[in-house]
Amino acid sequence: MKIKSSRFDRAAVRPEQEPRAPGPDVVFLGRSNVGKSSLINRLLGTRNLARTSSQPGRTQSVNFYRINDALYFVDLPGYGYARVPESVRRNWGPMVEAFLERRRERIVMGVLVVDARREPGLLDRTMRDWLAYQRIPYLIAATKADKLSGNKRVVALRTITEGLGASPDTGAPVLVSSSTGLGIRAVWRHLDAALAGA
Ligand code: GTP
Ligand code: MG
Repeated sequence: MKIKSSRFDRAAVRPEQEPRAPGPDVVFLGRSNVGKSSLINRLLGTRNLARTSSQPGRTQSVNFYRINDALYFVDLPGYGYARVPESVRRNWGPMVEAFLERRRERIVMGVLVVDARREPGLLDRTMRDWLAYQRIPYLIAATKADKLSGNKRVVALRTITEGLGASPDTGAPVLVSSSTGLGIRAVWRHLDAALAGA
């Protein structure tokens, strides 16, 4: 897709704050600090549209970005960050699960973002299971691949595929780097295919 415009639309902490305009939505979800917001920026060719931080827990609301006045990229708060307030942590699961259910009809793809250097954990699998349960097609994007040498990338790909399985919709995880642009075109190919069918 050629990006003609991208802008921050809104941050929602309650359902009634979400945009009413029809999607389609592409949702980004994954552990805190894996690089969801950075990936959004790289996909859009923007530097600072989605706020990123070296401190985990940066994104705490559901942030909507409007692309080409035609679709939304949705940046969900990261999960599994121990140092956010307990109330936030407790609310996170139900909030994201309810979000996926509520907007199910609009969501054309979930991008499950994991850190290429880490073995997928229980939370990653739970997230994958929610996507599968809602029958939301998903893509597994393993970020920060620039931090791995060639051989370690092969190992990482295997570890992540073993931990999460391949996606029924998009197959093997895609190694990406928001720093170098590695894998960005492959992610766009999957998104374009999903959006074409929307
Ligand atoms: P939360 O909003 O806390 O859930 O985090 P997030 O998943 O949105 O992560 P964010 O994009 O803010 O990135 C976290 C940190 O990782 C930042 O310091 C980024 O610069 C860094 N980072 C993200 N992607 C990459 C990447 O592909 N390569 C490298 N080297 N660093 C990255
Ligand atoms: Mg973020």
